[in-house]
Amino acid sequence: MKKTILIPGGAGYIGSNTAYLMYKLGYKVIIVDNLFHGQSFNHSWAEFIKADFTDNEVLKNIFSKNKIDAVMHFAALIEVGESVKRPRDFYNNNVIKTIKLLNCMVDHGVKKIVFSSSCAVYGNPVKIPLDEDNPYNPISPYGKNKLCIEFALKDYADAYDLQYVSLRYFNAAGANIKERLGEQHNPETHIIPLMLRAIKNNKIFKIFGTNYKTEDGTCVRDYIHVKDLAQAHVLALKYLDNGGKSNFFNLGSEAGYSVKQMIQAAQKICNKEMKIEICDRRPGDVDILIADSSKIKKVLGWIPKYSDLDFILQTAWEWEQKKIL
Ligand code: UFG
Repeated sequence: MKKTILIPGGAGYIGSNTAYLMYKLGYKVIIVDNLFHGQSFNHSWAEFIKADFTDNEVLKNIFSKNKIDAVMHFAALIEVGESVKRPRDFYNNNVIKTIKLLNCMVDHGVKKIVFSSSCAVYGNPVKIPLDEDNPYNPISPYGKNKLCIEFALKDYADAYDLQYVSLRYFNAAGANIKERLGEQHNPETHIIPLMLRAIKNNKIFKIFGTNYKTEDGTCVRDYIHVKDLAQAHVLALKYLDNGGKSNFFNLGSEAGYSVKQMIQAAQKICNKEMKIEICDRRPGDVDILIADSSKIKKVLGWIPKYSDLDFILQTAWEWEQKKIL
């Protein structure tokens, strides 16, 4: 019998790429997503339920009709800057609702979860590249939300025998063009789609801050292709299925690019100049985030294949032009 995976937030950017991979590997995929970020979901390979992932009736129905083998939880508010302005919404969605989901799993005897965490749990890292030994010091409510859930996962694992893998993503980017799975947030706040739209529509791209402690003064981030992220989830579940103990991993490409370097790279891919404006810092942003992903490589055998920056930008550019929503 096919194994069944419940994927809250599976219509989103990283969720849909992962859900597709799970389907390809022979799993039955059930997605619960309220399409909050303005995205659509027009794919036949998953059972799609448009609902809040904590809707009791919906969950009761899913759990009574299916034997859920594991949950991959993607549903979250994700904009670091917004979390500083609207912590209430972020705590409600990312913490309270996620705890409800964990309770529901415990009540229905579902023992495995792969959780979408973030490198934002570290705040300004003490050491770059950033390994899992860096102290937790999140500076945004978003980072604190993710850390709260990591603490809860640990407690639930100890008390209720839940097994979890928490993946601390760096910056997800790129698209799966063939399967029409790319970034579609509304409003969009992420650097790559905004840069590419500025180029495409001859609009201004705003650089948020040029006085960070980096070589050129702009923030440095680690961009990882969404297909590499998806693959890590598959390996995480396999690890739990093979009896691996609950664990957490940093998940990035291990290369850092400043905002100015990203602009140069995007202009090269699109063969067109971008209009830019220097603006104030965006609250919640840290100077540099570059992953040390050696733990996930060693323990899960994860090998990134798609995270070369030019390939990331090329697929993101194709997605921007051909996007079929
Ligand atoms: N940036 C700009 N101008 C823009 C948009 C972004 O200069 O118009 C800068 C930001 O200030 C930041 C960098 O580009 O320095 C990347 O910003 P993004 O908004 O693309 O991504 P974030 O790093 O803020 O956050 C993303 C996800 C989070 C995740 C984090 C991990 O949204 O969920 O990556 O680093 F936690």
